[in-house]
Amino acid sequence: PGTARAANGSFAFAELESGNDERHHVAEGYDADVLIRWGDPLFDDVGPFDPQNQSAADQLRRFGYNNDYVGFLPLSEDGKRGLLCVNHEYTNEEVMFPGIGRQDNKDFADMTRALVDIEMAAHGGSVFEIARDDAGKWSVVAGSRYNRRISMLDTEMTVDGPAAGHARLKTAADPEGTRVIGTLNNCAGGMTPWGTYLMAEENFHGYFWTDKLNADGKPVIEGPQAASLKRYGAPGRWYNWGQHHDRFNLDKEPNEVNRFGWIVEVDPLDPASTPVKHTALGRFRHEGAEAIVNGDGRVVIYSGDDARFDYVYKFVSSGTVSDDREANKKLLSEGTLYVGRFHEDGRLEWLPLIHGEGPLTAENGFASQADVLIDTRLAADALGATPMDRPEDVQPGEKGRVYMMLTNNTRRKEGQEDAANPRADNAFGHIVEMVAPQEDHAAREFTWSILVKCGDPRIAEVGAQWGPETSEHGWFASPDNCAIDAAGRLWVSTDQGSNWGKTGKSDGLYAVETEGALRGSSKLFFRCPVGGELCGPYFTPDQSALFLAVQHPGTDGTKNFKGFERNSTFEDPATRWPDFVEGMPPRPSVVVVTRKDGGKIGG
Ligand code: FEO
Ligand code: CA
Ligand code: CA
Ligand code: CA
Repeated sequence: PGTARAANGSFAFAELESGNDERHHVAEGYDADVLIRWGDPLFDDVGPFDPQNQSAADQLRRFGYNNDYVGFLPLSEDGKRGLLCVNHEYTNEEVMFPGIGRQDNKDFADMTRALVDIEMAAHGGSVFEIARDDAGKWSVVAGSRYNRRISMLDTEMTVDGPAAGHARLKTAADPEGTRVIGTLNNCAGGMTPWGTYLMAEENFHGYFWTDKLNADGKPVIEGPQAASLKRYGAPGRWYNWGQHHDRFNLDKEPNEVNRFGWIVEVDPLDPASTPVKHTALGRFRHEGAEAIVNGDGRVVIYSGDDARFDYVYKFVSSGTVSDDREANKKLLSEGTLYVGRFHEDGRLEWLPLIHGEGPLTAENGFASQADVLIDTRLAADALGATPMDRPEDVQPGEKGRVYMMLTNNTRRKEGQEDAANPRADNAFGHIVEMVAPQEDHAAREFTWSILVKCGDPRIAEVGAQWGPETSEHGWFASPDNCAIDAAGRLWVSTDQGSNWGKTGKSDGLYAVETEGALRGSSKLFFRCPVGGELCGPYFTPDQSALFLAVQHPGTDGTKNFKGFERNSTFEDPATRWPDFVEGMPPRPSVVVVTRKDGGKIGG
């Protein structure tokens, strides 16, 4: 049996065929059921969702938009109840609102205060109870006392750590610099060992506005924070919230931008609790925040800064995990943040971001640890960190291993390659495996190697590198999120954006071998409907269920990518997944995968 298992890999499922159509697909022997959709009620006081009759107050009672991170917190020993924690990363106004076409909407003229407030209400996160019936099927417990919407519109948060109360965090609405309303662009995240939910604030720069444009229509960036704003890409003017809410207009409120780009900790067991923005973990375009308890009891959090040529970070807490949950909730308030430098000889050096050490001094523009953290990117630049090909999920696994998804970077030019980012014009991405020595995640030096280089292995110029049992269906492009299952195995989900035309494949979930002769072999398990990317993934502890988030179905790279026609009722979309009902737009939704025979996912 040992030989047979090795020959077929450790994943005992029949590989799904790749492709791209209007529905989702899962490997034979499994069910993939829609669990919750944008607009589904989380509370008893709202009825069925009607996209033609939306309001911000109504959206706050319903599941938000563009589900990304999914975490599961068990509520009972029998595995039948739990809380799902789901991020709502961003909004697509052209798919949410009838008559708002992205092409027509370039000047945001149609984006009224009422629509902007719905967008803000649809951002953030949802926490809600789910339950498993005797047939093994999961459903949402609407009206559970745990259910909660965290939003950009009305959820008050506190700020802690070295930057809390700093002058650069003070605004007209918050002269103390310690209280922020809302969180945004929450991409991936993490669950802590003490059962809290981490929401990563990623592309915050896109939400900030200025009316000062140059002759080319580009923002004019000046003033004392110009270097910081430029390094973070703010103001991005992706949304026009700044036309309706002064705090998003940098001309009127220069410091609000410094209050985003952090890791937010939420206690899902207490729906009345106040989320905390932890400045000790640094400010950048956090993709996620995945935790592991080190051998010495300290908690280590890995996080990627998802931008071309940006960095990978780890945070090591000062304190150690204990049985005191309230004390554990303070562990992310104090510790040391490190940034990665990858050496050609396979060493990975973790450089500490500590004020007063090395170049991080007042002479170089860092007057305090608060400056180092508010301008984490500038501090990491000064330390000489290694510019990576867009670090997405960074996931610690077993045996001291940590997997980093590098999604792509077509701006890396010939001559800019290095050992850890070996391809110029990296359209398909790669995965780096980092190894902590003696499983010490706090160590200052790791080793690293490349697990796979993504793309079609049959096309020589792609330069792909896969394990030996990767079929035409099993290779993928643009790894984004990942999970380690109960058996320590790696699962990777993809986000190709509008590039799926280059691969002919929808985004999906792949099972990737990390050990032995088959290391780097990949098998397709699930695929998305057209135009969607796949987020999550997250397993229940007994591995009987797997949660997957299908984000923005029917949009990326489809004929409707430019938006539905003005005044339309969502006509002729590329897909109406998952409802397939006339008049209902495609809806971002969370899917739960179970095995028909009730066994463990992936065998
Ligand atoms: Fe929101 Fe890095 O993907
Ligand atoms: Ca992502
Ligand atoms: Ca993950
Ligand atoms: Ca993504």
